Amino acid sequence: MELTIQQQLEKLEHKPTTSRSKTETFQLAQELLKKMTLAEKIGQMFQLAPPEANVEGLKWEHREENSSAKLICEGKVGSILSVTDSETIFKLQKLAVEQSRLGIPLFFAADMIHGCRTGFPINLAMACSFDPDLIERSCRQIAYEVAHTGLNLTFSPMVDLVRDPRWGRVMESNGEDPYLNSQLAAAYVRGYQQGDYSSAYSVAACCKHFVAYGAAEGGREYNTVDMSERELRQHYLSGYKACADAGVASFMTSFNIYDGVPATANKFILRDILRNEWQYDGFVISDYTSSYEMIDHRTARDAREVALQSIVAGLDHEMVSMTYLEHLEELVISGEVEESLIDEAVIHMLQFKYQIGLFDDPYKHLYADREQYMRLPETLNLAKEAALKSVVMLKNDNQTLPLAKQKQKIALIGPLADSNQVVGAWGSLARNEECVSLLSGMKSLIGGENILHTAGCDILGNNRDGFAQAIAVAKSADIIILAVGEDQSMSGEAKSRAYLNIPGVQNELAQALKALNKPLIVIVFSGRPLELGWYAENSDAILQAWFLGNESGSALASILFGDSNPSGKLAMSFPYTVGQIPVYYNQYNTGRPSPNGEYSEYRSCYIDVPNYPLYPFGYGLSYSKFEYMDLVIDKKVLAAAQQLTVSVKICNTSEISGEEVVQLYIKCKNFSVARPNRELKRFKRVMIPTNCSKIIEFTIDKSDLAYYNAEMKSTPENRDYIIYVGSDSNADLSAEFSYLS
Ligand code: GLC
Repeated sequence: MELTIQQQLEKLEHKPTTSRSKTETFQLAQELLKKMTLAEKIGQMFQLAPPEANVEGLKWEHREENSSAKLICEGKVGSILSVTDSETIFKLQKLAVEQSRLGIPLFFAADMIHGCRTGFPINLAMACSFDPDLIERSCRQIAYEVAHTGLNLTFSPMVDLVRDPRWGRVMESNGEDPYLNSQLAAAYVRGYQQGDYSSAYSVAACCKHFVAYGAAEGGREYNTVDMSERELRQHYLSGYKACADAGVASFMTSFNIYDGVPATANKFILRDILRNEWQYDGFVISDYTSSYEMIDHRTARDAREVALQSIVAGLDHEMVSMTYLEHLEELVISGEVEESLIDEAVIHMLQFKYQIGLFDDPYKHLYADREQYMRLPETLNLAKEAALKSVVMLKNDNQTLPLAKQKQKIALIGPLADSNQVVGAWGSLARNEECVSLLSGMKSLIGGENILHTAGCDILGNNRDGFAQAIAVAKSADIIILAVGEDQSMSGEAKSRAYLNIPGVQNELAQALKALNKPLIVIVFSGRPLELGWYAENSDAILQAWFLGNESGSALASILFGDSNPSGKLAMSFPYTVGQIPVYYNQYNTGRPSPNGEYSEYRSCYIDVPNYPLYPFGYGLSYSKFEYMDLVIDKKVLAAAQQLTVSVKICNTSEISGEEVVQLYIKCKNFSVARPNRELKRFKRVMIPTNCSKIIEFTIDKSDLAYYNAEMKSTPENRDYIIYVGSDSNADLSAEFSYLS
């Protein structure tokens, strides 16, 4: 009697996979290519989303004759999208390996972008840790879980630079700075891939969305991107380049056009930059039907032209839409497409499969009882560490926080106070019901007898029925903790907002509670920066809690009651109002700068709000007090072959030890093109014990000063520079030097 799939999974013996060089995989791929028909080659260029795939969004309607099994058995599928259950993965792989003529294994890919079975904080939150080591360790642990699901590749990291919080996908980004983005992007790749594809615990990564998808006009999803080549190269490419330099296995093209041409068929970015300038040798996959969407972009008449334009531009693998499957063979036969272009793409795909060991063990990463590998104590502890470092304390007047653990009655109010809906968008296999809510976290830490809880209202809607109860509860308490924000479904893909307010009647609830004149601590849950102006004025303390995943409530409770000291720094500016957008720290000076960002007649400013954000990039408070002093640079003139050493002393003048993210910015006093007023070039997270000081040193060289100049050459020119070192992008401790080549 045939064994069940579960029984077959139990009998699986994982063969060791061989670590192979690029040369070896190239040779192996070439050997196999010789045996392949044109149709089989094209089959390797298609990613299928079978009915079992858990994909949201626009569904690609497969024609009846295109059943998954039929396509796989005919060798017309190269990989599978978003199938995450082991039994289905096993079933589909078995078809490919045993039924197709050449038995070429499939690879399986899905979006495990901030966790797998364990929910880690959303990426924008983890970016606020300014901690590449934490990101690498977290991704290593996430890879451990992914590598026990049967998947081979995760569609992560997303490294689109973002400056517009109306875009729902800022939640999966590393924020607004090119340098922070590049440092974290490389850490993601190192953590997932671990420099060894043959490892049973590493997974391949995918750098997305190439290119500049974070600059979608108006923050509107799937919208147009239009910028100069200098803006692209200077600010938007850093994250992608860092991934390529870190050896990322693949790139995903973006939905948008760049310079009028859809990224998925854009030769300038796919061949000129990625292949020729960066010498990238991994594979390029489209986004979900982004190739077919060129018809709607109106840059291709039909699917046949989509296939032609995409292969000529260098797209190796088409996700879900089938223009390659349906038109490439005829395009080659007609002579409009050289078969060598097909071979180039198929070599990339086969090399990848040899590299990750699929030919050694097609059932790699498949386990009968995978749950035993999930949510291990070390993974949950790491998720908590990541949550602790992601929280940003935006306000703390009169040392309202940390709270004493006993003593006072606490009114915990708000729709997010006892919510476990804190996984965040792209939650993969994490489960809300396994997340620790704020109330649970607080009860675990201090017991429940001093906590009075009521929601007061919903996140959305205009039901005020709960206000009276909330006010009554608050009246009987000594302090109020108000947990407000967005629903986690309000950010992520296809979740652009035209407003950035805290929705529903939550703000009204806050105002009603404020009228009681009790200490008001506000905790904001969101996938993006929101408008917090009223809270900045009227609360006593604010914690930005993002969506922190499994350990959300335990991390927040630990910070609230002083077991942990907040250390997060904003990776993205918080505007006063959506009308300020785009507002980001590294803006240009203009020809009529307003003296301090305030209103000044006939100067670059608004008549009704300042130019600067409510909370700037790099900002975040601590329970400790850090003072910066003694900024010293070791030379006044930096030559081409030299390094500049910068040292600064930081004193922790408080009674609480804490971690500080020391930030180093430069300003070029004048250049052949306009340059930002600040440019982050170094940061370092350092622990400084109570009443101690530390000397922190950075070294920079000419490459840190380089900028694309009037001739589009990345160079520092012979210019005067200012160094700023401090705790956020408004750092004012400075020193000056000149660069002289
Ligand atoms: C989506 C997203 C992309 C994701 C892909 C596969 O549309 O744009 O980030 O990796 O489809 O799920």
